[in-house]
Amino acid sequence: MATGSTPTSTSVTWGSRWTFILAATGSAVGLGNIWKFPYITGEYGGGAFVLVYLACILAIGIPVMIAEVMIGRAGRTDPADAMTKLARESNAPRQWGLLGAVGMIAGLMIMMFYSVVAGWALEYVSQSVTGAYSHLDATAIESNFSSLLASSDRQLLWHSVFSLVTASVVAAGVTGGIGKAVDILMPLLFGFLLLLVGYSAVNGDFSAGLHFMFDTDFSRLTSEAVLVAMGHAFFTLSLGMGAIMAYGAYFPGHSSIGTTVLTIAALDTIIALLAGMAMFPLVFANDLVPGQGPGLMFVTLPIAFSNMSGGMFFGSLFFALVSIAALSSSISLIEPGVAWLEKHGIKRPISTFSLAGIAWLGGIASIHSGTIFNILDKLTTNIMLPLGGLLIAIFAGWIMQRDRVQDETGISHPRIFAVWRFALRYIAPLGIIAIFLHSLGLMGWVMR
Ligand code: PHE
Repeated sequence: MATGSTPTSTSVTWGSRWTFILAATGSAVGLGNIWKFPYITGEYGGGAFVLVYLACILAIGIPVMIAEVMIGRAGRTDPADAMTKLARESNAPRQWGLLGAVGMIAGLMIMMFYSVVAGWALEYVSQSVTGAYSHLDATAIESNFSSLLASSDRQLLWHSVFSLVTASVVAAGVTGGIGKAVDILMPLLFGFLLLLVGYSAVNGDFSAGLHFMFDTDFSRLTSEAVLVAMGHAFFTLSLGMGAIMAYGAYFPGHSSIGTTVLTIAALDTIIALLAGMAMFPLVFANDLVPGQGPGLMFVTLPIAFSNMSGGMFFGSLFFALVSIAALSSSISLIEPGVAWLEKHGIKRPISTFSLAGIAWLGGIASIHSGTIFNILDKLTTNIMLPLGGLLIAIFAGWIMQRDRVQDETGISHPRIFAVWRFALRYIAPLGIIAIFLHSLGLMGWVMR
């Protein structure tokens, strides 16, 4: 994708499978892992929530992810047109293409809060560089974050910077360059998280943190928690809105999608778990509330940085890494829409800046209203993405022809293919529907 142009049938493909892995990992690993996973784990009570999330990654996320890459590769174009094309090929209504369109809208809606949070990360780069929170105690660090939330000007500044950088990268079509950046970024981020986990093990209440994350107390698991865990499985793997499908269009022919997806999902999950293991020991050692919400990362990690030697240097670097991880995700939030508009005759820079402009305006609304922020987050993550995933599973599992699917996934082992297809046809759709019904309270009523 180095040229940034939309591939027409079988033209541009990723130089190698590795490049696809980097770009897809870049999309998957982001604020979802480092900011969101720890704070929702805190809000929804820890271990049992983590277990449901892991189960959703395995039973729903991975099968759907393979399907998305497969559809993208089979269609070799933007998600909306890929779905239309494959629907026609399977004698199904071309309205399936609407799924791609809804996905583009979901991507923009996610961007409307994502770039605000990425802006917070940028603010913390600047605060670390200037040493703003150095040697403050936990209470002062908490109120430091609250004062950021109270300052719409500072949030607007960084939200705008982040939106502009995202738009510039997408407009230039240098997403291939991002793949290379990810190559360096991921090992660094990984190393940093390990370092922070080490710090927390020594200076935090490591055992309380681990117990919180891994002791499964199912009495704390509400039906809302189950819905949020499933929604997050989609969010963190960038599924259900076409991001991974758009990248799948560049996946080289003949190599197997299965192992690639497993690698990405494993990496994504490990990074999220490490982020949690870095934060919760500090929560318990400093008498913070695990369920304090979206500020969790911006309170716990500054506590660590403010106390360690060279902390402001490490803090600057860490928040910069988080911002870049957010950038490699945000480009994939608007890329499907841009690819579609470009294909329909609108020049890439114009389509990029229009879509990014809409997302930027939405971001301003999220800055000024916590309610709008929450609605955008909850509606996209917990409803739109799983719904998109459900339809993708039905499309790849029931509508597309079996042989075409087998050929396109490149999974040559018959038994592995059968297991995947079973998960896609039955486990994922029924799981998603059951969780939806459960959270509506209908499941209890049906079971009675
Ligand atoms: N997966 C990204 C993250 O965890 C967010 C994302 C969601 C990106 C959906 C693209 C599509 O931060």
